[in-house]
Amino acid sequence: MMTTPATEQFTVAAGPYAAPRLATSLDECFFYHTMDIPGHGTVAGEWDLRAGVTDYVGRVPVRGKRVLDVGTASGFLCFQMERAGAEVVAFDAARPQQLNVVPYSRSDYLRYYRAFQQRLPRLHNSFWLAHHAFESRSRVVYGDIYDIPAAIGPVDIALFGSVLLHLRDPFQALFSALRLVRESVIVTEPYYSLDHYLPRGALWRRLWRRLAALATGTRGLTRKPALVFLPDCREPQHPLTWWSLSPELVCRFLGILGFEDYRVSQHVQRYNGHPLLMFTVVGRRTLRSPECLA
Ligand SMILES: C[S@@+](CC[C@H](N)C(=O)[O-])C[C@H]1O[C@@H](n2cnc3c(N)ncnc32)[C@H](O)[C@@H]1O
Repeated sequence: MMTTPATEQFTVAAGPYAAPRLATSLDECFFYHTMDIPGHGTVAGEWDLRAGVTDYVGRVPVRGKRVLDVGTASGFLCFQMERAGAEVVAFDAARPQQLNVVPYSRSDYLRYYRAFQQRLPRLHNSFWLAHHAFESRSRVVYGDIYDIPAAIGPVDIALFGSVLLHLRDPFQALFSALRLVRESVIVTEPYYSLDHYLPRGALWRRLWRRLAALATGTRGLTRKPALVFLPDCREPQHPLTWWSLSPELVCRFLGILGFEDYRVSQHVQRYNGHPLLMFTVVGRRTLRSPECLA
């Protein structure tokens, strides 16, 4: 029987927002992002988006915009967008039960589950430690990604950074957030279906990016709305990774949801010290949601 971790209790501040928490010790934290935090210096995380953040968020101007950062993790993108002049609402899972763990029969599901049970509160702490250090005014909603509360109210932009690949139902998560979005949505995902570990050096990276772009074209991966199912019972992998989505699939999803004007870009980010090729789709709202769904 799975239980809620005894260590984490949420206080709701007002409406859907969580009351800010104080986390002061790095020992209480799990950092997903590498971040330069006042008073703490550079804290290492799995993903270092510092050099490529502008590409990661699709070069969308956020000054004066209200932004929903879906799956904020340690909040690097949230604080970055706030610094760029946005009012940010950060969203993440409240409880480990809300994470979609791949139920591999061959591996110890409960062991993974318990690992996430311990990790999620530490991930929340990393956000709050940085929130405090940056004197951030961003607000946080913890909840069900498939039913993001309408009480958040309208936002101008929603950002889905490396989230859809972790969800059993990526379309429903987009649907749930995009009901609130007035202007644009940014979706960034890794190209998991290719070997994207690129050599160092700007020239090499440009060459590899070009080759990868050609390869994805000829393989039909970016030309088709493909959703590739990654878990394989013979080789259980990362227990939170379900899909490789093609950029075309993301565009199709967005088109259905009223964002028919989109552009796709590619960029390289650093994951655990390795370069990883990613894509970003920026969709602009062209049609309103049907009234019955708003
Ligand atoms: C891979 S991290 C991405 C972090 C950040 N958006 C970025 O692009 O760097 C995925 C984030 O989504 C959250 N997440 C994953 N599955 C979720 C779910 N089912 N419900 C709510 N949040 C979820 C995780 O807790 C984590 O913070």
